[in-house]
Amino acid sequence: MLSAPENKELSYNGLTEHTEGLPADAYFDPRQYERELQRIWYRNWVYVGRSSDLARARSFRTFEIGDQRILLVRDEQRGLQGFYNTCRHRGAALCREPEGMLRAGTIVCPYHAWVYNLQGDLLRTSSKAHASGFDVADFPLYRISVKEWNGFIFVALNDRPPPFEKVFDLPLNRLDAWPLEELVVGHVLSKTMRSNWKIFWENYNECLHCPGVHPQLSQLVPIYGRGLLEERDDPQWRAHAADPDPKFKGGLRSGAATWSLDGKTTGVPFPSLSDADRKAGYVYMTGLPSVFLVGHVDYVRVVRLLPLGPELTEMRVEYLFSPQTLADPQFDLRNVVDFTNRVMTEDAQVCELNQLGLHARPHIRGVVMPEEYVVRQFHEWIRAELART
Ligand code: FES
Ligand SMILES: [Fe+2]
Repeated sequence: MLSAPENKELSYNGLTEHTEGLPADAYFDPRQYERELQRIWYRNWVYVGRSSDLARARSFRTFEIGDQRILLVRDEQRGLQGFYNTCRHRGAALCREPEGMLRAGTIVCPYHAWVYNLQGDLLRTSSKAHASGFDVADFPLYRISVKEWNGFIFVALNDRPPPFEKVFDLPLNRLDAWPLEELVVGHVLSKTMRSNWKIFWENYNECLHCPGVHPQLSQLVPIYGRGLLEERDDPQWRAHAADPDPKFKGGLRSGAATWSLDGKTTGVPFPSLSDADRKAGYVYMTGLPSVFLVGHVDYVRVVRLLPLGPELTEMRVEYLFSPQTLADPQFDLRNVVDFTNRVMTEDAQVCELNQLGLHARPHIRGVVMPEEYVVRQFHEWIRAELART
């Protein structure tokens, strides 16, 4: 599901012209997948994890984006350094573990023991002598772009990444009322989905599936129960324009305050939210291709996507709470995660369902229906990214 556009022009949102989907083989062709890695995943900012995962000097983490292996290191000055996890000698991986601490403040290649400092400079090799023309200064680790923002770590495998200010569909300050930096991960759901990564975003970008796939969510968010994301997705929306009922206006059912089993907040609600955001009960920020954030009134949900293959994608859901909420003996984690994990699991299951049918030989491409106007925007984004030189 996607956030409603915030600067509303008062018109019907839906598509009024017949619109075709992407070619079916775009969801399984290995050459297409490789193009998308090169042009989308290796060029844009990609969310990898929380700053608190690398809080201590000399801590490291490794990640994979597509077939690229990344090494992140917290240096002695508390800066975050990012490299390809590759030695400049003959290309061995520098760190095999997903996380750990670097001894002695250096990165030592486990193969022939070249030694780098935490800024990636090559300090020494293990050779008895260096040939003329060889200079250690010419062999620093391959650096990547790293950005820490409100406790979130983004990387870009690109010397000239797009402006970070454009990483989300909304301005970077949209969730400033949420204390993002100080929030702590209280629960994680990780799933490997047998589907192409674009299938996930298509499903995220429409709620036509909500009445059938998310019965509980459709009760909590009544407009979803009508298969719509927001008020003006209904061609007849003007007839109900004065009706405050959330089934027309969007937002949570009456009496509910957050996404949870009973609709009640389970932690300490964030104190600085505007009345409008508190009433809506959720604010989405989308950072294609890898992440979306949802500001709920008492927690923040972070959903990270990483492509594992043409028909394999990892979804990781992080639930962030304030330290006060996590310390509260009344705090009922299950009330939140049992509800929202169910929604995320339902979505993961229909992503796999979608993928299963795509290989049918007569199925050249699908159709984008009027309510799926954000799916079409996503397709336009894909086409533009692939065409970008
Ligand atoms: S490959 Fe790293 S020192 Fe040889
Ligand atoms: Fe869904």
